[in-house]
Amino acid sequence: MKFDDHMVDRKQYYSVKYKRMEDEGMEEGIPLWVADMDLPVAPAITEALVKRAQHPYMGYTYIPEEYYSSFVNWQKKRLGIEIDIDMLSPAHNVVVGIQLALEMLREPGDKVLVQPPVYFPFYSIIERAQCQRVNSPLVEKEDGFYMDFEDMEKQIVEEGVKFYILCNPHNPVGRVWKKEELEKVAEICHRHGVTVISDEIHCDLTHKGKHIPFYSVSDKAKEVSMAFYSSGKTFNLPAMHSAYALFNSKEMQDKYTKISESQNRGDANAFGIEANIAAFTKSEDWYQEMMEYIEGNIDYVADFINSNLSPKIKVRKPEATFLMWLDCRGLNMEQEELNNFFKTKAKLLLNDGEIFGQEGRGFMRLNIATPRYLLEKAMKQLKKAVDEL
Ligand SMILES: Cc1ncc(COP(=O)(O)O)c(C=O)c1O
Repeated sequence: MKFDDHMVDRKQYYSVKYKRMEDEGMEEGIPLWVADMDLPVAPAITEALVKRAQHPYMGYTYIPEEYYSSFVNWQKKRLGIEIDIDMLSPAHNVVVGIQLALEMLREPGDKVLVQPPVYFPFYSIIERAQCQRVNSPLVEKEDGFYMDFEDMEKQIVEEGVKFYILCNPHNPVGRVWKKEELEKVAEICHRHGVTVISDEIHCDLTHKGKHIPFYSVSDKAKEVSMAFYSSGKTFNLPAMHSAYALFNSKEMQDKYTKISESQNRGDANAFGIEANIAAFTKSEDWYQEMMEYIEGNIDYVADFINSNLSPKIKVRKPEATFLMWLDCRGLNMEQEELNNFFKTKAKLLLNDGEIFGQEGRGFMRLNIATPRYLLEKAMKQLKKAVDEL
């Protein structure tokens, strides 16, 4: 698969990434924001979808065993982890799954801990569930971002936190949490009766270090947690809306099924089923090639930025994800000015760092899952804009 040759027009099929360019009056610019890939899906997925589309019936569909077993086998092969297939349930997508999980357990007003800068839809999930957010910001050190365990426990105790949404691996800072780190989290949450909702959507996209599922680090971790997975990021299938929830008990799973059904969130998507099975059973070669390509893009962007734009803009290579957290604090701009600079001077649409929390001020999030020639063009535009300041 030659990813470089494959940039096709995405506008015709209602791409959110490109629609926003239109909305922002940036038709000539390059969209490098929302976390989907400008890379074609694996051939086996296209084949499976075409085959399904050719079958002339699109009636109500149940979710077959293979939807789950293909995922279980993929996880076993990749991470050496044995998932209990009976503890898996479907989720419309990860965001909706987390929302339902929170709603089924919380009392309105309950406190939910997050670690900003973090995937900002967690904030709306918490708000929609009528809960209150408690922040324990990540701490930046010389070599990257770390959890502040002392602060975390302090917040949990002082605020009476009941839930914690863990981003594992972490978007946007790209950390792959280590076993020791997750063990400490498990100890703290277990000690204070905090339920951990672990968002593991980026679990396959690790470049450095191995993904450790939170529930797997200890009995205590398993006892307090649930996890959400999807083929959306790994295989570029977010529009399939077919994710997975993993529970630690039948009781928890039944609660989830009940709330999911009461909101009609458990229905199967006929195309999502086929896409997931083809992804997890027939697309490993594509996955390996995609990872190599992504890692090449990360190396290219990191080298370019750190050699040409530092100290105004600096970046670390992410340990996971296809997202890079650009430190633009050296430009000395207010956030609005920074966003405008990227849009109007560099003609690039990135994610505003501040939407991930005030800790993201001075940062921009760059999605590098795009053909290399576009990234090269983007880097040239950025350099020209910085040089002209
Ligand atoms: C950490 C994280 N969780 C969830 C999602 C969205 O997942 P879904 O489309 O399955 O709701 C994303 C997308 O970028 C993400 O980065």
